[in-house]
Amino acid sequence: MEDREGLNPPPQAALALAEAAAIGFTLSCDDQTGSLLRTLAASKPGGHFLELGTGVGYSTSWLLAGMDPASRLVTVEKNLSHNRIAIKHLGHDPRVSFVTGDAAKFIAELLSPEENMAGKLDFIFADTAPGKLTLLEEVLSLVKPGGLFLVDDMLPKAEFNFMPDPRYIELTNRLENHPDFFITKLNWASGLIIATRKV
Ligand SMILES: C[S@@+](CC[C@H](N)C(=O)[O-])C[C@H]1O[C@@H](n2cnc3c(N)ncnc32)[C@H](O)[C@@H]1O
Repeated sequence: MEDREGLNPPPQAALALAEAAAIGFTLSCDDQTGSLLRTLAASKPGGHFLELGTGVGYSTSWLLAGMDPASRLVTVEKNLSHNRIAIKHLGHDPRVSFVTGDAAKFIAELLSPEENMAGKLDFIFADTAPGKLTLLEEVLSLVKPGGLFLVDDMLPKAEFNFMPDPRYIELTNRLENHPDFFITKLNWASGLIIATRKV
């Protein structure tokens, strides 16, 4: 089995990637991760999804491809030019809301008494520093029992001579030892951890 073939990316994914290349943006997830996002998204019909770090919408397009018509996704990105590309290709989809702003601020809003979203989200893809390297506990508190939390880019990178990053080691330790989640670590693609809140 060749796990990088036959993944059938959604058409919007290629459009977003082409524009990402034009602006020199290289941080979109890989196709394997996209395919996993799509597969897991399809397991949450009617789900409430959150993506932290839209980028140009590459991972967003995979999530939307897996979501059913009743599911809803909010995706947060602070860089306006990244966001413009994502909105250009995916903004027609009524299931997704784009937030242009700081993910840390948005997380605080979700946990405010007015929004009161703790324990209400089915799926979080945390792909920027807030919610992954900072505010981890806050973001995990948003996940409902049986809900999923996913991070990628957990493996040491070639551009840093494969030196382990202490921030990612700490994140791994915290998830490994979290009393409220089961986790699976995948030494695959960029390195993934999938966590599910225990029921
Ligand atoms: C790894 S990229 C996201 C890639 C995207 N999820 C994908 O796989 O296609 C991280 C993104 O987070 C954005 N970002 C960085 N800090 C942020 C913050 N504090 N709040 C919101 N977005 C942030 C960056 O501009 C960048 O587009």
